[in-house]
Amino acid sequence: MTLVIHRLPRASSTQDEARRLLADGGAGPGHVVLADEQSEGRGRFGRAWLSPSGGFYATYVVEQHPRIALVAGVAVLRALDRYGVSASLKWPNDVIVERKKLGGILIETAENSALVGIGLNLTETPLETAMSILTTGQRVARGDLVVAIGVELAGAAISEDLLADYRKRLATLGERVRVTTEDGERPIEGTAVDIDPEGRLLVETDKGVCVVSSGDCIELRAVAG
Ligand code: BTN
Repeated sequence: MTLVIHRLPRASSTQDEARRLLADGGAGPGHVVLADEQSEGRGRFGRAWLSPSGGFYATYVVEQHPRIALVAGVAVLRALDRYGVSASLKWPNDVIVERKKLGGILIETAENSALVGIGLNLTETPLETAMSILTTGQRVARGDLVVAIGVELAGAAISEDLLADYRKRLATLGERVRVTTEDGERPIEGTAVDIDPEGRLLVETDKGVCVVSSGDCIELRAVAG
């Protein structure tokens, strides 16, 4: 597997850089844009992603995959395992350590490819509620991590145990959750009981089981305690 790395000292957003390269024919699947800092990093639901110098900000251009959200989450965790960082996932694919956010994944599409944007806190914690790899007691070089995640992305995309591994790493299962969906409907509150083969979250509520395909999930125990 060949990984082509476009390394930039700074970018507005690596998602936009990757999109631009793709449109110009300068990138395709197997390419990754890696920046040392971002001025306009973005997260899911149009939120800002604080991206000071020293963090890990990368966008991988990959072939579309029906379960790309699962592939990306599993790949990041498998890559972190290699460096002794034991993280878990909060649905759909927040990277969590000790119930705090170590990183996030944003998936967009462009020109028939998927743009898998990954932000991880290496040494800094831009928010009080965040966690860094350094805080876990490990140090990982950005250049090593970008390759490890690239290799794991390729592997997870064809992994036969993808769903089982995702489920195993999903800390959300069994938790009481509140899920806000993009359509602005009332949040769904209940117990996260499973995910289905498409990676949708099954939430058991007073009125029965709700199937949630996209949303923002808060684990209620974490909020309370
Ligand atoms: C989230 O948890 O909301 C997802 C955050 C994704 C942030 C990464 S950093 C690299 C890439 N470029 C961006 O602008 N966003 C993603």
